Amino acid sequence: MLGKKNIKKKIGILTGGGDCPGLNMAIKTVAQYAMNKYGWEVVGVKNAINGIVSDVKLSGEDSDIIEFSPSFSFSEYVRQGGTFLGSFKKIKTKRYRNVQNDEDLVSVMLPTFKKNIKEFNIDGLIATGGDGTMFMLNYLCEKSKIPFVGIPKTIDNDTPGTEISIGFSSAVDAIVNAMDSIFWTAKGHRRAIVTQVMGRDTGHLAMHSGVASCADIILVPEIPYTLSGIIKKIKDIKAKEKRDYFIIVVAEGAGLEKGKPLPKSADYTVAEYIAKALDKAGIEARADNLGYIQRGGLPNGYDRMLAAELAILAVDLMADGQSAVMAGMKDGKPAKVPLKNVCKKETRGLNLSSPIVKTAIKSGIYIGDVKKVK
Ligand code: F6P
Repeated sequence: MLGKKNIKKKIGILTGGGDCPGLNMAIKTVAQYAMNKYGWEVVGVKNAINGIVSDVKLSGEDSDIIEFSPSFSFSEYVRQGGTFLGSFKKIKTKRYRNVQNDEDLVSVMLPTFKKNIKEFNIDGLIATGGDGTMFMLNYLCEKSKIPFVGIPKTIDNDTPGTEISIGFSSAVDAIVNAMDSIFWTAKGHRRAIVTQVMGRDTGHLAMHSGVASCADIILVPEIPYTLSGIIKKIKDIKAKEKRDYFIIVVAEGAGLEKGKPLPKSADYTVAEYIAKALDKAGIEARADNLGYIQRGGLPNGYDRMLAAELAILAVDLMADGQSAVMAGMKDGKPAKVPLKNVCKKETRGLNLSSPIVKTAIKSGIYIGDVKKVK
């Protein structure tokens, strides 16, 4: 077992999937805690899964790994956004490019993975990632007979099995800051500004940041809306508050009205679609798209704390001989989650009876046709 005293062990840590604020704190805590508490050696694997399923270089400036030592300084990294180990959402290696799905991909990658973990000389692997990264690495580790522990991260906050993922809170802050700037242009020009935020499948980001930004309208993938509902809300505000500027937050996955998906061939965003409909109804509107400023910003206090807590649990789980598990959050506390409840499961959508949704409704924000939600 990895935790057994007096046995020199070595683990790897890597960051998979899209970047987000807080990853560097997770790397730092895994490395320092594993070295200090258990006396293990720790190696950082660069470039996500790519760094462990490709031809690797173990030394020199372009080495694919970083051998951490107790004197390694993380102090600047923990204050930075992104991940200093680097990440990729896709598998870059040419020989895997034509493989269609994750299941085939992992079996094709297995021989190189096995070879590399021997070269790295590691006895276990910890990775931050979404369900895709965790599925692949867990399979590869299981077949190679080494333990795997995952740590959830995504600004979308939709990883199954955990209440919150690293990066979400900082992304909400980034959106709220941006909305506080956008507000003044909306007010100065007496416009509706429709701001698109990330959230391909789920509306956690839009709903939380929209409520915090005092948005008039929030649109998310989980709740169908109508253009007439949006226009009515704007007219009501005009009539009651004598206000002629409006703040609208829309998740990129909110789609078109009445639950219709945005066509794949569309050369416009959801925000542009709504702004156009408002203009047509005589309400001056502009569309904006916040893009990567939501993902690449600095980690806030909460995300640093969350990353540290989950990293400690991940190392402890590994020391306890656990595998195929994730260090998640349950009832506000770090908790072990079996990966069978995470990988290949539906993304964790916005719970429509959650406090944030209820708050939005009770605050009078138009969030679509809540009655039509199943
Ligand atoms: O990390 C997930 C996400 O935030 C999605 O909401 C969004 O669609 C995606 O990232 C876009 O990222 P990329 O362009 O890196 O694929």
